[in-house]
Amino acid sequence: MNFNKELEQKKKEIERLIAGYLPKEEGFAKELARAMNYSMEAGGKRLRPILMAETYRMLGGESKVIEPFLAAMEMIHTSSLIHDDLPAIDNDEYRRGKKTTHAVYGEAVGVLSGDALLNYAYETACRAFFLEPDNQRIGQALLVLSRKTGIYGMLGGQSVDVTNEGKPISKEMLDYIYENKTSALIEASMMVGGILAGASQDEVDRIETIGNRVGLAFQIRDDILDITSTMEELGKPVFSDEKNHKVTYVTLRGLEQATGDVEMISEEAVSLLEEFPQKNEFLQELVRYLVNRKK
Ligand code: IPE
Ligand code: IPE
Ligand code: MG
Ligand code: MG
Ligand code: MG
Repeated sequence: MNFNKELEQKKKEIERLIAGYLPKEEGFAKELARAMNYSMEAGGKRLRPILMAETYRMLGGESKVIEPFLAAMEMIHTSSLIHDDLPAIDNDEYRRGKKTTHAVYGEAVGVLSGDALLNYAYETACRAFFLEPDNQRIGQALLVLSRKTGIYGMLGGQSVDVTNEGKPISKEMLDYIYENKTSALIEASMMVGGILAGASQDEVDRIETIGNRVGLAFQIRDDILDITSTMEELGKPVFSDEKNHKVTYVTLRGLEQATGDVEMISEEAVSLLEEFPQKNEFLQELVRYLVNRKK
């Protein structure tokens, strides 16, 4: 099967699985459930669960215990997007080709549905214990998932990003922002796959570095697309960074350098993947595919 077809098929499998975990739209809080499901069903590449599933597969994982974690990861990511688009943060009106959650449901439900989805993600991940009550790796995976989302990960990065808008920032701070707002969830995705597949500490550490590189390249590519793509293709507004007076890799290093960096950083990730005796060619192809992604 060719790569694009395989990617599309894996995305569909993830979406079918996610659908089984979404909250029911009933009772007094049905508006909240609707807002949560609106963003979860809007689409998106489903990259993080695919990376998790492929890392799990590479290291020999074969159980259903990964499934609640795949859904949880996409919930965490989606909650970060709902909040990222709020008027107080990036103030964007389109996401995944549709109006943003706050634009449809109002700002208050936008805030609450982001919180609710984040909390529901952990509730969902905890369901792994029902599948394998004696599997101690589930606890380790939960720790990584929660740590990489919070102050020592995505939220730490988002906070430094928003509090430094309009200010000149160092390359060191920019790296901190990218490695946290974006790499942290990609690291967590791949690490959870590794941990649940039974990887050793050394293997998990190496996977963390791979996720870090993939995430950094992914965010630089996002910055490039923000100025070179169109809203139709991206499904979200272009020139969002300029509107918010952000220093990005592109403003700091220039478009050409940034493009070269995406390629170089992604190749680092591929080389580190190649060091594993267990091979997953699809995963390597995916990392290379992301270098030139159009959305
Ligand atoms: C967008 O993530 C936020 C960034 C970290 C750049 P994605 O580009 O993975 O968004 P979706 O899930 O495909 O919509
Ligand atoms: C956001 O970075 C990263 C997270 C949502 C955690 P951006 O603000 O650049 O993401 P987009 O461009 O809105 O997707
Ligand atoms: Mg942002
Ligand atoms: Mg944004
Ligand atoms: Mg962006």
